[in-house]
Amino acid sequence: SKANPLLDPVLTWYAANARDLPWRAPAATPWSILVSEIMLQQTPVVRVLPVWTEWMERWPTPAALAAEPPGEAVRHWGRLGYPRRALNLHACARAVVERHGGEVPADHAALLALPGVGEYTAAAVASFAFQGRHAVLDTNVRRVLARAVSGEEYPPKATTAAERALAASLLPGPEDAPVWAVAVMELGALVCTARTARCAECPISGLCAWRLAGKPAYDGPVRRG
Ligand code: ADE
Repeated sequence: SKANPLLDPVLTWYAANARDLPWRAPAATPWSILVSEIMLQQTPVVRVLPVWTEWMERWPTPAALAAEPPGEAVRHWGRLGYPRRALNLHACARAVVERHGGEVPADHAALLALPGVGEYTAAAVASFAFQGRHAVLDTNVRRVLARAVSGEEYPPKATTAAERALAASLLPGPEDAPVWAVAVMELGALVCTARTARCAECPISGLCAWRLAGKPAYDGPVRRG
C-alpha cells in the first residue's frame, strides 16, 4: 500500500488545532454522533451546537426519541433548516429500536439502510463512533483533496468515482483512519476553506498541487525549509 505523505503533517496539525466540539468528546455516543452528523450536513457548527445539546439532554438514546411523535422532533429542530432531517432522525431512532435493539449499528451497510443516512453519514458514524476504516468524503475533505492532490480549486459538483478512488488510496491503516478522516475535514473547515485558502497556516502547503501551481497567488517560490 502507498504511503500517504499528507498523513503525518495533517495529524500533527490536528492535534494542535482541533476545535473542542462535544460530539468529539469521550462522552459522545454513536447516537449523539449520528445526530451531530445529520445536523452538520447542511448547517454550520455554531448553529448546530445549542440544538444538538438540547436534543441530547432531551433524547439521550434512540429509544427516547422513538417514544415521541415525529412532530416533537420537528418542534425542537429550531432554526437549523431543512426540517425533513428532523423527521429522518425520528425515523432513524425508530428503525434503530426495531432493527438493532436500540443501539446504533457499527456496520456501514446497516447504517446506510437507516432513513436519511447516505454514504457520507454512514462512513462518518462508522469512522467517528466505531473507529471503522472508511473514506469520509464531505465537502471539506473533497475540497482539500481537490486542491492538495488534484491541483483543482474546487471538487466536482457531485462526488465522483475518481474522488472515491483517491480517498481510498490515501486511507491510512486502521489505527489512524478515523483521526485522518476528522483531521482532513477540520483542515478544510478551518484553513483550506471554500472562500480563503490560508496557505500560510496550512501544514501541507509545501505538498499542495494547487499551491505548487501558483494558486492562490503567493509572494515567492514555494521552497522547503
Ligand atoms: N466533526 C466530525 N464531523 C464533523 C462535521 N461534519 N462537522 C464538523 N465537525 C465534525
